[in-house]
Amino acid sequence: MSKAAQEQLRFVGKMVHVSLPREPSSVDSRESDPADANAGRARARGVIRDAIFAILLAILLFLCWPGRLHAQDDCLACHSDKDMKNAAGHSLAVDGDKLGASIHGSLKCGDCHADIKTYPHPDKVARVQCLTCHATEESDLKGSVHADGKDHPCISCHGDAHTIFPKADARSAVYPLNVPGTCAQCHSNNGMGQKHGLPSIYPKYIDSIHGYALSKEGLLVAANCQSCHGSHHILSHKDPQSPTFKSNIPNTCGTCHAKINVDYSQGAHGKAIAAGKMKAPVCTDCHTAHGILQPTEAAFRMQSTPICGSCHKDKLSTYHDTFHSQLGLLGGYVETARCWDCHGAHDVLPARDPKSPIAPANLVTTCGRCHAGANLQFVQYQPHANARDRKLNPALYFIRLFMNLLLAGTLTFFMIHTILWLIRARIEQVKNNSAIGGDHD
Ligand code: HEC
Ligand code: HEC
Ligand code: HEC
Ligand code: HEC
Ligand code: HEC
Ligand code: HEC
Ligand code: HEC
Ligand code: HEC
Ligand code: HEC
Ligand code: HEC
Ligand code: HEC
Repeated sequence: MSKAAQEQLRFVGKMVHVSLPREPSSVDSRESDPADANAGRARARGVIRDAIFAILLAILLFLCWPGRLHAQDDCLACHSDKDMKNAAGHSLAVDGDKLGASIHGSLKCGDCHADIKTYPHPDKVARVQCLTCHATEESDLKGSVHADGKDHPCISCHGDAHTIFPKADARSAVYPLNVPGTCAQCHSNNGMGQKHGLPSIYPKYIDSIHGYALSKEGLLVAANCQSCHGSHHILSHKDPQSPTFKSNIPNTCGTCHAKINVDYSQGAHGKAIAAGKMKAPVCTDCHTAHGILQPTEAAFRMQSTPICGSCHKDKLSTYHDTFHSQLGLLGGYVETARCWDCHGAHDVLPARDPKSPIAPANLVTTCGRCHAGANLQFVQYQPHANARDRKLNPALYFIRLFMNLLLAGTLTFFMIHTILWLIRARIEQVKNNSAIGGDHD
């Protein structure tokens, strides 16, 4: 619709407003001759006729008055024009068919745009309040990290206001497979997250095992942002009520990984967390939250250091001294024993616990998984032998001391020997040179 045509329509609207017929006056006060009965009856008939006419006119006006709204057709008369824009160039076009197909298809425009009562309507109309019909979502959102959205808070996640679909419909912006893309509008490498000092999440997520399962395998049951954060009442991970608060994480992951959560809660780490020892690891300390790798991948198996070693520093350094680690450090990926091959990953237990894979009675089985024919003799080998600790490993300590002294002694001897030998060689050379020079004279 051209600008001129819009103006014209609006002008027509205004004309109708000003040219409204007033109530027709039915009684003429100047004509009051009581003697003329005929004239009186005629006047009475006239009054009735006028009254009927007035009522008919009123009904007609009620039906045709352009200032009243009945159906969406009224609004679409103008807003179905695809090129309709406001002064700022923002499109004002509404696709009636799409709206009709959406979950709100049975609503009238005015159910949402509730402050439009007449036309021409004002240039600026109040923001649509979804809360009139969705009070729970609104109040959940109010208490969340997304409480103060400048744009319309609901449609920032639900997409175009006129094409909202139920969450189970593949066209919905909050359909499980579409959620990451919806959150990524703000939580990716783009400006929004950075402006608020938040890390970029989407790229890490989409490359993770969950992102892969969702985007490549099309798994509706793979974790999307909503599975771990919720939808409307999203809280910061620092809030103890949040599903991403450290001690709540095992149960958050456990909604899907139920068996692992049970194993974990029976292990030393899970028990420690339950007892409020926040230094112990939860799922995300070992797996990360967004960049979760498949544990059989080499990239994950190579990560003993960040996974267990960042907390058990002493055990890591002793492990590094052993054959198992040296083998792994030779470069590239080698199938050697990582921390969890001996300790388990989730039901990690101390050696004194008889259920522990490192309990003395279980070592033959534990080592035997890789060392066929492992026996009691073989498992005497200490995976964490600490040659620097005289009290724990005295034999190793003295052997190491002797070897180090021997090495240092040998090196010193040969160094002195070499230096003396060089000096002597130089002296011989100078002697020989002067002897040759003497011959020429
Ligand atoms: C006579 C044509 C016409 C009809 C009929 C009409 N509109 Fe509008 N509408 C306009 C124009 C023109 C604008 C742009 C106003 C501006 O920004 O100057 C507009 C703007 C709007 C806006 C945006 C206002 C804003 O704050 O940016 C909404 C919402 C809207 N109309 C809803 C409706 C609804 C709902 C109906 C039916 C109840 C309706 N319109 C009927 C012409 C019309
Ligand atoms: C489910 C509620 C809902 C219904 C039904 C609805 N609208 Fe809207 N409409 C909105 C929301 C939300 C906005 C975004 C602006 C705001 O916050 O008010 C909007 C914006 C608009 C705008 C401004 C342009 C834009 O896209 O930002 C126009 C024009 C408009 N609506 C017209 C209509 C017309 C015409 C109908 C009926 C055919 C209609 N709306 C039905 C919720 C609705
Ligand atoms: C941060 C993004 C986000 C915002 C903002 C948001 N929603 Fe949602 N909404 C979602 C997600 C994700 C789902 C799907 C939840 C699910 O799958 O269980 C959803 C689902 C819904 C549902 C379906 C019922 C339900 O709860 O499962 C309704 C209704 C709804 N939202 C309304 C709203 C309203 C109204 C607002 C504004 C007050 C709003 N939403 C704001 C993300 C959002
Ligand atoms: C006039 C009342 C009304 C208003 C205003 C309204 N809705 Fe709805 N909405 C409904 C009804 C009715 C349904 C269908 C409920 C059903 O079938 O369970 C619905 C369904 C929905 C659903 C799908 C729920 C699901 O099952 O997944 C979403 C999402 C939604 N509305 C979001 C919004 C948003 C966002 C706004 C504001 C822009 C809004 N609604 C405004 C009445 C309304
Ligand atoms: C319209 C942009 C926008 C969308 C869409 C959006 N967010 Fe946000 N989100 C923000 C902003 C901005 C903040 C920072 C709020 C603040 O700190 O005041 C934030 C904060 C967060 C935080 C809290 C960060 C912290 O610890 O403080 C989480 C978690 C979060 N969003 C998750 C999500 C999820 C999940 C979705 C999708 C369902 C989503 N967001 C969709 C803009 C958005
Ligand atoms: C498997 C569960 C899970 C999924 C899926 C997930 N998150 Fe998170 N997210 C977390 C946890 C747990 C935290 C708490 C901080 C941490 O451990 O790194 C978090 C933290 C955040 C933060 C705050 C960062 C901070 O340091 O404060 C934002 C923002 C966020 N997530 C957004 C998203 C978005 C967007 C998606 C989807 C693309 C998503 N998350 C998917 C579990 C998840
Ligand atoms: C909504 C359900 C859901 C939630 C919540 C969830 N996951 Fe998953 N996760 C899955 C599904 C489904 C797969 C399988 C993907 C595949 O194999 O393609 C998976 C795979 C994994 C894998 C790889 C397993 C393998 O052998 O390939 C790890 C590790 C993992 N999730 C850890 C976590 C952690 C840690 C959390 C919590 C921070 C979590 N998950 C939360 C559903 C979930
Ligand atoms: C102390 C570190 C650590 C913690 C805590 C941890 N995991 Fe694991 N997880 C691992 C390691 C290491 C593996 C690889 C095990 C293997 O390859 O044998 C693994 C494997 C997995 C797998 C793949 C299945 C398997 O057993 O190979 C899933 C799924 C998983 N973890 C989910 C979780 C969930 C959910 C939690 C929290 C309840 C959690 N993890 C806590 C270290 C940990
Ligand atoms: C975030 C730090 C952290 C990470 C990562 C971590 N642990 Fe632990 N671990 C602890 C804490 C703290 C305890 C002590 C719990 C207690 O006090 O009962 C513990 C206890 C243990 C125990 C029991 C020993 C004892 O003294 O009770 C074993 C065995 C163990 N961890 C092995 C591992 C292995 C194997 C990994 C990697 C798969 C790992 N840990 C990753 C912090 C961590
Ligand atoms: C080859 C198998 C093996 C590997 C690999 C291994 N451990 Fe151990 N670990 C053991 C055995 C056996 C014990 C018990 C005897 C001891 O303390 O030396 C033990 C003891 C421990 C303890 C003390 C448990 C207690 O009850 O006091 C911790 C903590 C530990 N290891 C962590 C680690 C970490 C972290 C790694 C990886 C950097 C690792 N282990 C690698 C076999 C292994
Ligand atoms: C995940 C598999 C795996 C586990 C579990 C494992 N190892 Fe090993 N270990 C290896 C590999 C691979 C080598 C190097 C190749 C070789 O010599 O067999 C090795 C080498 C060794 C060596 C030196 C070479 C040799 O064979 O004499 C000793 C000693 C050893 N392991 C002891 C143990 C003990 C004790 C345990 C149990 C506490 C254990 N290992 C558990 C994989 C494992």
